Amino acid sequence: MALKLKIIIGSTRPGRIGPIVGKWAEDVAKEYSDFEVELVDLKEIDLPLLDEPNHPRAQAYEHDHTKRWAAVAADADAFIFLTPEYDYFPSAALVNALQCLSLEWNRKPAAVVSWGGVSGGMRAMQEIRMLISNLNMMPLPQSVPLPFVFNFIGEDGVLRPEQPVIDGMKGMLAELTDWAEALQPARG
Ligand SMILES: Cc1cc2nc3c(=O)[nH]c(=O)nc-3n(C[C@H](O)[C@H](O)[C@H](O)COP(=O)(O)O)c2cc1C
Repeated sequence: MALKLKIIIGSTRPGRIGPIVGKWAEDVAKEYSDFEVELVDLKEIDLPLLDEPNHPRAQAYEHDHTKRWAAVAADADAFIFLTPEYDYFPSAALVNALQCLSLEWNRKPAAVVSWGGVSGGMRAMQEIRMLISNLNMMPLPQSVPLPFVFNFIGEDGVLRPEQPVIDGMKGMLAELTDWAEALQPARG
């Protein structure tokens, strides 16, 4: 049975380009990996700021929105988190979504695709990699930044990055596959 990859769109603001990056990442993952791929939009998950009374490790969720989000994360064998860079930092929506859960992340590999101006969101990416390691995920070093992302979005709203970025995605997906296969039995 195919391993499951969830690609999480981490930006939620009006006018965001997160879904454009998400569609591109989904297409590349479907073309260049054997994962069963699902694109998940945090805007649709619509999580409030941490509003559960119990520590997430207890998995005693009281709210339907947390239960829905926990079910998405629990169903995954691997993640790609998509984050914009806001003030050298990942989106608060993504940080919040990660901190709403705990055991659902356990021993799963995760890669990051980031975007922004000259940095391609690399400062945000590093922050997210630190957070996901603290959540007991395996953060891949094979991250994919998208520098000057707006230059690669056509009038049709489709992202077409240069070949080195696609090659980076291919390498990241290969690594993610290896880690997902290695860690699946480790979850018991
Ligand atoms: C509050 C805010 C802060 C930003 N800070 C940065 C930044 O630190 N580095 C950067 O490269 N771009 C920054 N940008 C520009 C974003 O990269 C750009 O708006 C991008 O479209 C954000 O992704 P989104 O459209 O999915 O929200 C910032 C944008 C906003 C709205």
